[in-house]
Amino acid sequence: MQIRTFPVEKAAQTKIHQVNLDQPTFGKFFTDHMFVADYRNGQWQNPRIVPFQRLSLHPATSALHYGQSIFEGLKAFHHRPTGRPALFRVEDNWRRMNRSAQRMCMPELPRELFVDAIYEWLSVDADWVPKGEGTSLYIRPFMFAADEYVGIRPSETYQYIIFGSPAGPYYPAPIPIRFEFKYSRACEGGTGAAKAAGNYGGSLYPAQLAMEEGYRQLIWTDACRHQIIEESGTMNIFFVIDGRVITPSIRRGTILEGITRDSVIQLLRHRNITVEERDITVDEVVDGLESGRLTEVFGTGTAASVAFISGIGYRDKHYDLPELSEEESIARQMKKLLEGIKYGTEADPFGWVTIVE
Ligand SMILES: Cc1ncc(COP(=O)(O)O)c(C=O)c1O
Repeated sequence: MQIRTFPVEKAAQTKIHQVNLDQPTFGKFFTDHMFVADYRNGQWQNPRIVPFQRLSLHPATSALHYGQSIFEGLKAFHHRPTGRPALFRVEDNWRRMNRSAQRMCMPELPRELFVDAIYEWLSVDADWVPKGEGTSLYIRPFMFAADEYVGIRPSETYQYIIFGSPAGPYYPAPIPIRFEFKYSRACEGGTGAAKAAGNYGGSLYPAQLAMEEGYRQLIWTDACRHQIIEESGTMNIFFVIDGRVITPSIRRGTILEGITRDSVIQLLRHRNITVEERDITVDEVVDGLESGRLTEVFGTGTAASVAFISGIGYRDKHYDLPELSEEESIARQMKKLLEGIKYGTEADPFGWVTIVE
């Protein structure tokens, strides 16, 4: 495969010795380099790999005021058979980044500035990919409006950056989550399907209220009637009812089209397990919890891979879910399989993994 190369300015010193890569603290430490490109005069310019550094921003920088800011999240894994970093479905993150760009009236990125740029940058910072079980290098490509102008209009200039941070396992233990009936993350016609910064800002306060009640995340419901289930925090959500797997449809444009969600759907179907992508209501889930027909709930996302749910809060009630063994639990089987594919210890039937040489 032909990969575009970019100019590299090497950091004078590595910071890798300051970080415990055996037990990385997520989001606090950053690799030695970052990739940067600027959008000016209607085109992407000056792509480069430079030492990780602070940005200097004008107070009128458009993104800070009007929220034209989008991002992606993906991971590089220490690929056991080759000892090299491996990327999981990077092209799908690129496509989603461009869907977010379109919705937020921002310029799209050519493939080489996303996919090739990650390869190149990762080959410079390859030593930063942790090797321990459940660890990875979290990769954060993002783009923001850079005009130094306080009027409201789509920015004419943008900055695009890729950086990385070593990560440990996300939710090691099953987590309790609860339904949200007052606040909304997204509505039909809104920006919920985009990975737009403002979606996350708006979700923090409701999530904090749930945390004060002992829950780790919310289950968002539709903004009109709070009846149709959407997603949970930064994860898509799956329910197992009567042995059938059900996950909310992306048709309404209010949930993020998760790459882990799609991977789990494909893996389940590959194993001849039926998955229903459709509207699922709060009533259907509560009925399932009351009757015991609902046996499992799990979340999917890049950060958590598959997160097991220990119980669900519904108004003033809480329903605990049974702890299932690996033979019984679809979530546990999916987590094992998906992580095995990412680390190269399981066969990769769909060709999702690419090795960075
Ligand atoms: C709101 C939201 N939903 C779902 C997901 C899961 O998506 P993915 O599996 O692509 O990480 C994420 C994380 O990216 C997210 O931020």
